[in-house]
Amino acid sequence: MRDRSAMGSNSYMVELRNVTLRFGEKTVLDAVSLTVDPQERLVIIGQSGAGKTTILRLILGILEPTVGSIFFNRLEIPRLTPRDLQRARMRIGMVYQDAALLSSSTVRENLALSLQELTDKTPGEIDRIVDEKLELVEMAGTGKLMPFELSGGMRKRVGLARALVMEPELILFDEPTQGLDPVVSAVIDKLIVDLTERSKVTSVIVTHLMDSAFRVATRMAMLYRGKIIEEGTPEHMHQSNNPVVVQFLNGSTEGPILERSKYHMLSPAD
Ligand SMILES: Nc1ncnc2c1ncn2[C@@H]1O[C@H](COP(=O)(O)OP(=O)(O)OP(=O)(O)O)[C@@H](O)[C@H]1O
Ligand SMILES: [Mg+2]
Repeated sequence: MRDRSAMGSNSYMVELRNVTLRFGEKTVLDAVSLTVDPQERLVIIGQSGAGKTTILRLILGILEPTVGSIFFNRLEIPRLTPRDLQRARMRIGMVYQDAALLSSSTVRENLALSLQELTDKTPGEIDRIVDEKLELVEMAGTGKLMPFELSGGMRKRVGLARALVMEPELILFDEPTQGLDPVVSAVIDKLIVDLTERSKVTSVIVTHLMDSAFRVATRMAMLYRGKIIEEGTPEHMHQSNNPVVVQFLNGSTEGPILERSKYHMLSPAD
């Protein structure tokens, strides 16, 4: 039995505990601590290159932290054996930034793949699950289409349906509305809210699009220069006095984010 200090708390779905991640000389995450409660939709916002996708990769165990640790329920992700890590990943759905569909497979084949490889379900059961998930994302009847026949919004929906087939407890969304027009973005955001509420699933969503962030978040955290500089309800973020948060939320050119000459004067807590 491991000592308690090495275990995640019972109550969190995800916990990043004092995570530092360096690539060579570059510190992408600097002592980041972050928790996600069951059934929350935590939205992580931050500039391009801030380390948002990196956080999702750490949760999936694709990357290992330089310092600190990551917990999924009570599992310490970086310490799992490859077999246990694969088992844990079966409980986590990932919606990739670019949908990452197999280009020479149909929509149905893309959705069926993990069920075929990781479960002992019969072809009939798999067909039923695929149809059910396509219906959930309002893509019923599209199973025979190839990815190149889909619009950007349809690809995002298929990516979402694929993340749902294993009935995950946690879904990680990487920029779910990037590249979509404002109306389709709003539809996808509503789908994310509806699906996560209906199935009581927990989610971590990373985005740099503020409209989407505020539509889906139950809680938000802003990543800037390796640190979480603000965290709280959407309302709390709106009321923040942190000049970096204010500038980012307003999409303004005025403020500390672009003022490189002032970088060195800005502590992360400013
Ligand atoms: N495997 C890697 N090796 C070296 N550097 C990496 C690696 N993965 C990410 N980085 C660096 O880490 C930083 C954060 O990358 P990340 O992809 O997490 O950013 P992001 O916030 O998701 O950005 P975007 O909004 O553009 O997707 C970047 O500077 C990137 O160059
Ligand atoms: Mg990214």
